[in-house]
Formats: sequence, structure tokens, C-alpha cells
Amino acid sequence: MGFYNDFILPRLCDLAMRNKQLLPFRERVIGAAEGRVLEIGVGSGRNLPFYRPPVRDVLALEPAARLVTMAQGASRASPMPIRFFEASAETIPLDQHSVDTVVTTWTLCSIPQAASALADMRRVLRPSGKLLFVEHGEAPDAGVRRWQNRLTPIWRRCAGGCHLNRPIRSMIEDAGFKIDRIETGYIPGPKPMTFMYEGSARPG
Ligand SMILES: C[S@@+](CC[C@H](N)C(=O)[O-])C[C@H]1O[C@@H](n2cnc3c(N)ncnc32)[C@H](O)[C@@H]1O
Repeated sequence: MGFYNDFILPRLCDLAMRNKQLLPFRERVIGAAEGRVLEIGVGSGRNLPFYRPPVRDVLALEPAARLVTMAQGASRASPMPIRFFEASAETIPLDQHSVDTVVTTWTLCSIPQAASALADMRRVLRPSGKLLFVEHGEAPDAGVRRWQNRLTPIWRRCAGGCHLNRPIRSMIEDAGFKIDRIETGYIPGPKPMTFMYEGSARPG
């Protein structure tokens, strides 16, 4: 799996995340960021062009070395100071209460220990800070959920650990966040892959 994980998967991730349907989500979510921002799972850097003041600087965390290199390339066009960390979200290498905004876009599906990662996001957020998210996950329709549960074991093996069936809202709430805003719905495409959760939450 080394060659697939190290070379093919980062390119597939970049290709999938170029989807133009995702652009309005990126604009809204990144447009609400401010201060010092920690982006979790920055991938190939598709959000980086959207950061503007009142964002002061961006700390970009990503465990896959090749994606860090791709995101560094994308960061050259950004006016923002961006610092990269090759690290996992389960153990964020930052101090408690040291960031104003945590951003996660289509990443909670792939983090192996997502509950630990959310707990660590809450740890590094200032008490007045916010978590901004857009994720795909568990659908409200029983028939779609059945397909999500059927497909996830095989899907996660070829799609970098991506789960189709994660209950994003309850995962965020179970980590102690208070949700301020959440919008859900399908975007065009196969229903098991396209039920979106977009919103913001406070560390509580
Ligand atoms: C579908 S991609 C999304 C990339 C990017 N957030 C975007 O919107 O284009 C999922 C990302 O989650 C990252 N990821 C997987 N496990 C992770 C972990 N333990 N900690 C942080 N990020 C992780 C992957 O490396 C990948 O960059």
C-alpha cells in the first residue's frame, strides 16, 4: 500500500477536492474565519486562496507529507502567513487556548480517532473561539444510510480511510462543542457520498 498511499492517494485527494461544487462551501466557511486559524487536514491546500483579514495567520496541519508539499505550492499565491505542520489531528502540536478558529473541511470523515481529534481541537481553541466545519456524513434517509454502512468498509480502504457514515453533528456535540449554526443537505451526486453538514460551533 506504500506507493498507493504515498503517490496515488494524494493525487486522488487533490482531484476529488477540485470539485467546483465545493467552492461555495469553501468561500462561506473560510470567509467566517478570523484571527489565528488552525486548519485540520489541509490536504493539497484548496482552502488557502480563500483566507483574508480578519485572519491573521494560518497554521496548516496535515499528516501526509506529499499533501504538505502540494499545499506549500498552493500557499505561494496566498497573501497570508501560513505555517505547515506535518502532524495528526489526534495530537495537535499547539498549546491550549492558542488559536481563534479551527477549520475542518471534508476531513472528519478520514481521521482515524475522530473523537480524540475533536477533543484536541477544543483544547487548542480559545474559550471565545470557534470551530468552522463542512463535512459529508451520515444521511437522514434510512435507505441511503444502509448504503453508507454497506459501502464504508470497502470505500475507506481505497479512499484514504474516508467513512461515508459518520454522524458529524453528534460527533461535534459529543466532544463538548455547542453548535451555533448547522445546515445540512445533499449536493448533486451519489447520495451516500453527498450529504453535507456545514456550520460553526463554540468550545462550550
Ligand atoms: C478529503 S481530504 C480533504 C482535504 C482538505 N481539507 C480539503 O478540503 O481539500 C481529507 C484530508 O484529511 C486528512 N487526514 C487524514 N487523517 C488525518 C489525521 N489523523 N489528522 C489530520 N488530517 C487527517 C488527509 O490527509 C486529507 O488531507
